[in-house]
Amino acid sequence: MKIIIIGATTGIGKALAELYINQGHEVTITGGRISLLEEIRNTYPERKIHISLMDVAEIDNARLTMEYLADKHGGFDRVVINAGVGFVKASFEEEIKTIDINVRGFTAIAQWSYHYFKNKGSGHIIGISSLAALKGSPYAPEYHASKAFISNYIEGLRLRSEKYRHHISITDIRPGFVDTPMTRQNKGMFWVASPQKAATQIARAIETKKKVAYITKRYFLLAILMKLLPTWLFVKIF
Ligand SMILES: NC(=O)c1ccc[n+]([C@@H]2O[C@H](COP(=O)([O-])OP(=O)(O)OC[C@H]3O[C@@H](n4cnc5c(N)ncnc54)[C@H](OP(=O)(O)O)[C@@H]3O)[C@@H](O)[C@H]2O)c1
Repeated sequence: MKIIIIGATTGIGKALAELYINQGHEVTITGGRISLLEEIRNTYPERKIHISLMDVAEIDNARLTMEYLADKHGGFDRVVINAGVGFVKASFEEEIKTIDINVRGFTAIAQWSYHYFKNKGSGHIIGISSLAALKGSPYAPEYHASKAFISNYIEGLRLRSEKYRHHISITDIRPGFVDTPMTRQNKGMFWVASPQKAATQIARAIETKKKVAYITKRYFLLAILMKLLPTWLFVKIF
């Protein structure tokens, strides 16, 4: 299978890339730090791994790069859109950066992928959203809103594919806490998964073409709680 992972230099994206590489898939990995991409490729000299710099916030360049990579490497069967940022007590600039990457960048790649797979006749788009998609946050409103956008957007793509029979599978991955560079700044995390454990569960959800998957699975319970708790109690607890 030919898989491209957008944002695979560290954390969840890197762990998922390594899992797929070890399974023998042809994997294309992208990100903003070429040395980290090279490091992954050099770790598996016997495998077919392609690397490419890509900043999803540069939306036109990112879409051209997708086109170029698909042409160069004989197409894709799966696109995993993992690139994302999150800040603690973000400044205005950081809030806008979050929207540029998590919303504009995500849309640029997801929209390209949908049309690519529609023309191809099949494919699978995987969006890495978050449990954060379920509710606003007093700590990072922009991050939660960006993830709500992702989950809602790809739900729309799934409905479009079902309505017009485009044969495109869509999976919305919603991790809870995973131990990655992004969360090193966080305090008070619980049920924290390693990137490897998260990647294993993500790969399983993709394989079984789940529509929505909580990572790790136990976060499903928290998802229910987040929806049921009255606001006064939610604010008190979280
Ligand atoms: N860790 C968690 O607890 C958690 C929970 C829920 C959801 N998530 C989501 O999971 C995804 C991965 O996060 P992570 O925790 O693994 O964090 P991470 O280790 O910081 O990984 C983020 C990845 O996104 C890439 N990226 C960032 N900005 C980019 C840009 N402008 N263009 C292209 N790639 C970019 C990074 O590559 P470069 O820096 O090299 O560009 C890196 O490969 C994110 O979407 C995050 O929101 C994480």
